[in-house]
Amino acid sequence: MSKKICLTGVKPTGMPHLGNYIGAIKPAIDMANSGEYESYYFIADYHSLVGVHDPKLLRSYIYEVAAAWLAMGLDPKKVTLYKQSDIPEILELHWITSCFTVKGLMNRAHAYKASVQANLEQERDEDHGVNMGLFTYPILMASDIMILNADVVPVGADQLQHIEIARDIATAFNNTYGNKLKLPKGIVREGNKLLAGLDGRKMSKSYNNHIPLFSTEKELKKLINRITTDSSDPSIPKNPEESLIFDFYSEFATVDQTEALRTWYLRGIGWGEAKMELLSVLNSMLAGPREIYAELMANPKKIDFILEEGQAKVRPQAQKLINDLKHTIGVR
Ligand code: ADP
Ligand code: TRP
Repeated sequence: MSKKICLTGVKPTGMPHLGNYIGAIKPAIDMANSGEYESYYFIADYHSLVGVHDPKLLRSYIYEVAAAWLAMGLDPKKVTLYKQSDIPEILELHWITSCFTVKGLMNRAHAYKASVQANLEQERDEDHGVNMGLFTYPILMASDIMILNADVVPVGADQLQHIEIARDIATAFNNTYGNKLKLPKGIVREGNKLLAGLDGRKMSKSYNNHIPLFSTEKELKKLINRITTDSSDPSIPKNPEESLIFDFYSEFATVDQTEALRTWYLRGIGWGEAKMELLSVLNSMLAGPREIYAELMANPKKIDFILEEGQAKVRPQAQKLINDLKHTIGVR
């Protein structure tokens, strides 16, 4: 029996941070390395166009995310890596799926709703600054998934709604033409927890509370020092469950290291010491990938080559699906 298809997309919006790594990059790489699936991961560059209108910046973001995933362990021999804009059939499918998406479904999509909400709060027209790319974003995402008939889609928790929308769209299409499109299943990392940022809110580029994955050791130190702590004496026992530093540490350290730090907390630890421990774990995990990242960014042709190979594999499959669907809907 052939393997199930695992697919995910990565929006290029700058160098990923530790939250992106824990919530999206690591689970997807682990799934690919398990060998259980046939894996297809792509750079969702047209999705970024919704908000990034600077060509130099977009080009650089594309290389940054590709290099980041490769540096963190994506193996192009195990995963077909490609670029969304290299597969124009996705846009043909986008139109077809649009015609099976009721508008109300888009009104309820969270990214659009958040923009409307922000506009209303600032007493602006509710559609101020909303382009159709933002409004129909989930349809493009559904098309990304269906173009390869994906079975499972590893995503960060905030993307699950979009996978549900993709299932609704596929169901509407299938209700008309029979079982043509597969219903994808979203998979989120165990516990479904979001990594907090330096200020305790969700780590996000938009809150500027993030730690970029390839910060230098010096930068890491500076960022970790920004984590706010109280002024309690080092000898006073501390509750690890209420500490952002401990939370971070447990995500990146081994179980044994985490238990050792827990004991130290309960005995009494100075915040300076706790921060040093966190720095040491993060830096030893990231030192290797940081070098690979720098090497790839200095040789973007290597990235181009991998993406071209991906395109060569994916495009014929996408063309086949579109040809079948054209026949199904009656334009051919
Ligand atoms: P940002 O909020 O920094 O703009 P994105 O929205 O581009 O990040 O997120 C890209 C992916 O990383 C998504 O799949 C998202 O679920 C995941 N992700 C983002 N922030 C976190 C976080 N703090 N913890 C876990 N996963 C996250
Ligand atoms: N919307 C996703 C994000 O912001 C990226 C994405 C685009 C995606 N197309 C996809 C993820 C298809 C999974 C499947 O993170």
